[in-house]
Amino acid sequence: MTSAPTGSRAIGAPVPRLEGRAKVTGTAPYAYDQPVEAPLYLAAVTSTSARGHITAIDTAAADRLDGVVAVLTHENAPRLASDENAELWVLQSDEVAFRGQLIGAVVASRPEIAAQAAGLVRVEYDARPHDVEPGPGRDDLYAPATVNTGLETDTIAGDVDAAMADAAVTLDRTYSTPLQFHVPMEPQTAVARWDRDGGGDRLTLYDSTQGVIRMRQIMAAVLGLPPDRVEVISPHVGGGFGSKLRPKAHHVLVALAARTVEGRPVKFALPRRLTFAGSGYRPSTVQRIRLGADADGRLTAIAHDAVGGTSKLVEFAEQTALATRTMYAAPNRRTTHRLAALDVSVPTVMRAPGEAPGMFALESAMDELAVACGLDPIELRVRNEPGRDPETGLPYSTRNLVACLREGARRFGWTDRDPAPAARLDDGWLTGTGVAAATYPAYPVIGPSNAAIRALAGGRYRVDIAAADIGTGSRTALTQIAADALAVPLDAVDLRLGESTLPAAAPAAGSMGLGGWGSAVIAAARAFREKYGTAPAEGAEAGATGAGVPGAGKVALHAFGAQFAEVRVHADTGEIRVPRLLGVFAVGRVVNPRTARSQLTGGMVMGLSAALHEHGVMDPGPGQVVTRDLADYHIAAHADVQDVDAVWIDEADPHYNELGAKGVGEIGIVGVAAAIANAAFHATGVRVRDLPLTPDAFL
Ligand code: MOS
Repeated sequence: MTSAPTGSRAIGAPVPRLEGRAKVTGTAPYAYDQPVEAPLYLAAVTSTSARGHITAIDTAAADRLDGVVAVLTHENAPRLASDENAELWVLQSDEVAFRGQLIGAVVASRPEIAAQAAGLVRVEYDARPHDVEPGPGRDDLYAPATVNTGLETDTIAGDVDAAMADAAVTLDRTYSTPLQFHVPMEPQTAVARWDRDGGGDRLTLYDSTQGVIRMRQIMAAVLGLPPDRVEVISPHVGGGFGSKLRPKAHHVLVALAARTVEGRPVKFALPRRLTFAGSGYRPSTVQRIRLGADADGRLTAIAHDAVGGTSKLVEFAEQTALATRTMYAAPNRRTTHRLAALDVSVPTVMRAPGEAPGMFALESAMDELAVACGLDPIELRVRNEPGRDPETGLPYSTRNLVACLREGARRFGWTDRDPAPAARLDDGWLTGTGVAAATYPAYPVIGPSNAAIRALAGGRYRVDIAAADIGTGSRTALTQIAADALAVPLDAVDLRLGESTLPAAAPAAGSMGLGGWGSAVIAAARAFREKYGTAPAEGAEAGATGAGVPGAGKVALHAFGAQFAEVRVHADTGEIRVPRLLGVFAVGRVVNPRTARSQLTGGMVMGLSAALHEHGVMDPGPGQVVTRDLADYHIAAHADVQDVDAVWIDEADPHYNELGAKGVGEIGIVGVAAAIANAAFHATGVRVRDLPLTPDAFL
């Protein structure tokens, strides 16, 4: 029998990334780097109207340019098979649904020629009035049937209004978060080749994706190919954050182009401007929070009403109020989600969709309530700890929020904190500290993953799984899991992932990746050892499917954390600095402390970036995002990132998976913006309820 993960040797070790040297020496092939034979290059034509129809599209000048191989528009593009996802119904009609939509493509021998030719395509529109801003004051908001991941749109228990009327302390505040964009270091890239052989049509797609199997399935359906005639290869991914989870219009565009020039590979890298125009983003939110409490700060009512924007093309309903359903005890509860349907590109999941904006609002409101009650904000949260999940009534598998708050308080030096706002001036800087809770679901909705193991020569093993390593270190962590499950040294395992021909596995999403994939690897190792023992013949092979979530439906499964921030605001200029961030997390067993810490601190830096900088601006005139490069869309730079540390408490959650590991990909960003806003209030006495916190807010 194989050794179980507990008592193992590789799991828990801070193993450096196995592909780290290849990455830093430039020898790890990302999608665009794939050494394909005689590639062609694609440049996109995009709409300059936000809504309407194309009445004329003139490609003559583009066609004439030397080096141009093909120009595609809705008038000549190959037909697609499925319009189930309107975002992927590319070049199939003259309709324009948002500004920046892909409406044509040029394929040429050089990328410069393709770009020049794309600029020569003349388009005329029958433009219609467009509607691109979700608020305020709209009367056409609607309730979606469900919110993201199929969750209930509204939840109501008890009577919030009556409880608010009777409460000793009440709070009714509105918070907002802007459009936010994931801009991974490696842009969206794809290389497609279309071939025809005895078996018919066949697409090979080198892609930068969070899930090769999902990509294969959806692309096959859209293109009308059997799934086994689509191969997706994605060995290395330079960041995703949700933006590379779902196939986007450019995937279809490059496939259509490849089909047109059959046999020649077509390369496409989405320019940064198009990253902002139509490859997914976090929608803006306006959130009303109402809290009612007794004189001791015990919540009697908690209500969270979230409004966001979606695209008319495809609905995306950010689950903004989800965390509020589980965070605190209160007999009277309400969460709602409403949407404005807009002529904009389709939003998508972005690191901690729901929790990141939602916990900014809730955890800011909890800080305001602590001030109103004259209570320490940690003590307020401790007083409102639920014994069971308020949403489902189920016991928690593990809920170590209080442990995180207490450990953080000890490490951060919270105990001697003077709660008075605007009371510390240090050489022109007002200083303060703040805290916020973090949570992220351990989602039980993941599809099963499969893995296969094959004995190689010399006591080595190959482990195959169509998992993704989007820069998180999952290749390394999975190798650790495999080594322990096979009871062999780390370097005896040769793990392959990121190819759709490998055993099907779930995508990297919802912080579910490692747990699901790891369970499959453990199951495969067990099956292998049961079949062949510890001295298998070379070529011996076994596969297995990972177990489901053992605690699903029996316990409430969530990760928790506590974020602490120290903030300095310049008394004269309002300049805001964050010299210190500390996150303490309860995320189950940590498989690789080095890569886990990197995920958690990376999430915290993204939260810092959201707190201080990130602000996507929609210009209602042209109906376009005007912050569409990293000069206009500011993100945290090195100078912003000072002392950032992440630690975790000892925990294992066997109710989630055999590893006892909850995910670490998303919880790091949750609560950071609130901790910073709360610290800024403590520093200045100014409560900022709208992200980002810019200097003008403090003057
Ligand atoms: Mo992650 S935002 O669930 O891809």
